[in-house]
Amino acid sequence: VLAPIPVILAAYLLGSVPFAMISSKLFGLADPRTYGSGNPGATNVLRSGNKKAALFTLLGDALKGWVAVFAAQQAGLSNALIGLVALAVFFGHLFPVFLKFKGGKGVATAAGVLLALDPILGLMVLGTWLLVAYISRYSSLAALIAAATAPLYSALMHGTDGQFAVVGIIALALIIKHWQNLQRLMAGQESRIGSKKKG
Ligand code: G3P
Repeated sequence: VLAPIPVILAAYLLGSVPFAMISSKLFGLADPRTYGSGNPGATNVLRSGNKKAALFTLLGDALKGWVAVFAAQQAGLSNALIGLVALAVFFGHLFPVFLKFKGGKGVATAAGVLLALDPILGLMVLGTWLLVAYISRYSSLAALIAAATAPLYSALMHGTDGQFAVVGIIALALIIKHWQNLQRLMAGQESRIGSKKKG
């Protein structure tokens, strides 16, 4: 039986790996914290104009969330510990030890976590993100609406169980991390997907 603390720590460290930074280095781009919204995430890397770098960021940040939860499931950990691993990898991305605890907003990592935790829920949330992003062209609005609906979907499917708590905490943290985006959206100043305008 794996001891909980090292497992949670390993998930946190994996979540701390900043793919926006790795991708920017690989593709020879500027530090994403110096342009656009300043967020080390796929949406902001896209503002560099390099779609491959943005895709690499998106896949890397999503995959680390998926891998952490999938590995925990494969190791036969309890549902409670799988839930803690999900939170640890997600919060690793938000508050990474490698970036002085100033990380991203968690959208890609949350998607990876949810797809592993509950593939049906993950696909519903992903579908919500894609629909809102397609209609509005705002990555942040899509994330805010997908995050708000995620706990609702979870509760509708399973009731208010442990998964609902994990999904609810992730959704709440993600919404709080998007506070400036919310203000920009309300002021009509948010930049749309692919726009290089300062976010
Ligand atoms: O992935 C984060 C997204 O929802 C908003 O990113 O760079 O526009 O603040 P950004």
